[in-house]
Amino acid sequence: MKASAIILAAGAGTRMKSKLPKVAHRIMGEPLVSYVIDAAGQAVELDKLVAVVGHGREHVVPLVQDTCEVVVQEEQRGTADAVNSCAEAFAGVSGSVVVLSGDCPLITADTIRKLVERREETSAAVVVLSMIPDDPFGYGRIVRTTAGEFQRIIEQKDCTPAQAAITECNSGFYCFDAEFLFQALGEVSTDNAQGEYYLTDVVEIARHAGRVVEAMVADDADECLGVNTRVQLAQATKILQRRINERHMLAGVTMTDPDQVWIGPKVKIAQDVELLPQTFLLGTTEIGEDTVVGPNSRLTDTYIGANCTIDETVAIEAVVEDDCSCGPRAYLRPAAHLLRGAKAGTHVEIKKSTIGEGSKVPHLSYVGDATLGTGVNIGAGTITCNYDGFKKWKTTVGDRSFVGSSTMLVAPVNVGDDVTIGAGSVITADVSDGALALGRGRQVEKPGWTQKFRDSQK
Ligand code: UD1
Ligand code: CA
Repeated sequence: MKASAIILAAGAGTRMKSKLPKVAHRIMGEPLVSYVIDAAGQAVELDKLVAVVGHGREHVVPLVQDTCEVVVQEEQRGTADAVNSCAEAFAGVSGSVVVLSGDCPLITADTIRKLVERREETSAAVVVLSMIPDDPFGYGRIVRTTAGEFQRIIEQKDCTPAQAAITECNSGFYCFDAEFLFQALGEVSTDNAQGEYYLTDVVEIARHAGRVVEAMVADDADECLGVNTRVQLAQATKILQRRINERHMLAGVTMTDPDQVWIGPKVKIAQDVELLPQTFLLGTTEIGEDTVVGPNSRLTDTYIGANCTIDETVAIEAVVEDDCSCGPRAYLRPAAHLLRGAKAGTHVEIKKSTIGEGSKVPHLSYVGDATLGTGVNIGAGTITCNYDGFKKWKTTVGDRSFVGSSTMLVAPVNVGDDVTIGAGSVITADVSDGALALGRGRQVEKPGWTQKFRDSQK
């Protein structure tokens, strides 16, 4: 099914008390507006997707420009004016056009699809998604005749007491006949309590033109929850967290306590993965089969293969292949790449480095700008000294080499294959294949020295 969509994202959201416009606030790492864009894209085949931006658009445009055509509403004169700012973009467009609020991240593709289907079945000028919230205060009310026929929407501030008692409300989601919509918008006035151009007036205009109008009640009022305050932001986060976690659990992922696992909407998780408490999987993270993540782990835009153990680990833009182990307390920074069976152990930081197959960095190390071969062992406390205060330099360590504990590898430096480096060495020159390298002061021994020293202090 085909349709177009307009996403309203021009509002300031003053009740958020924030520097950021509200649609730029994030839930599980993704901006509110992205949830709405994704739902629209999954619902129908989009002929056209337009985002209306205004307030704080320097923050909003970067979030929408890859997926949407961007239209600027210079002055926020009401929802009808916001939609009308897309008139040019919609010249010559016909069929269904869905209007969505960028601050309602819980809307589902299913509901959007139903709105479009209903409009196509009935040839309605507009189908409004209505809802019955616990507290209708503040919403536009759905006015019906005694026979139940949908007549108009009346805003809270324009309601008579009798109208204010209506419980069915406008969710702010609609599907319009595109050609009719842009004609009708020309007829909307500001003759109301707020002096704004109300999109909701289009319903009455349609009826006067003898067109069908429909209000379809949402199955779940939660879907229409708008985020206007930080309290609602937390409510929406909770609902999305549960929804996303349930989807993964039903697909074969174990969670000890799903209330303590936060997964972004784009994350992919294979079957038989186990997620322990206080785990965050964000961005485009992917987790392979039989891997265990957590507790206390945060993986952002990171790939983890199958059968890994990721314990108390923070990883950003890292790649970890099958059978690896990380943590407890590992920090994998961008372009850290662990090949199959590698290990980044306790208090280990790895940045822009490849750790070869089966190679181990088990304890207290920093590895940056380095390439380690296969089967390398890096002793506890070893550090690549990759930075001279101006530039970053590279370190390489060949296959099967053994680097003793507390070695400083002063880059640029190349250590060959099958090398042994004595503990406590400062390695400043390249080491040839098969050699033992020692770069430390020789041990000195003075027999009986302690007693002599103690006697001298008496
Ligand atoms: C609107 C509806 C109301 C409905 C409610 C649901 C109208 C007149 N009223 O009311 O019936 O119950 O949503 O949440 O439409 N926006 C712009 N430009 C503007 C004005 C608004 O882009 O000039 C955007 C806002 O950022 C927001 C959306 O449109 O995303 C809704 O606007 P808002 O002012 O919040 O409308 P409500 O008064 O809540
Ligand atoms: Ca609103």
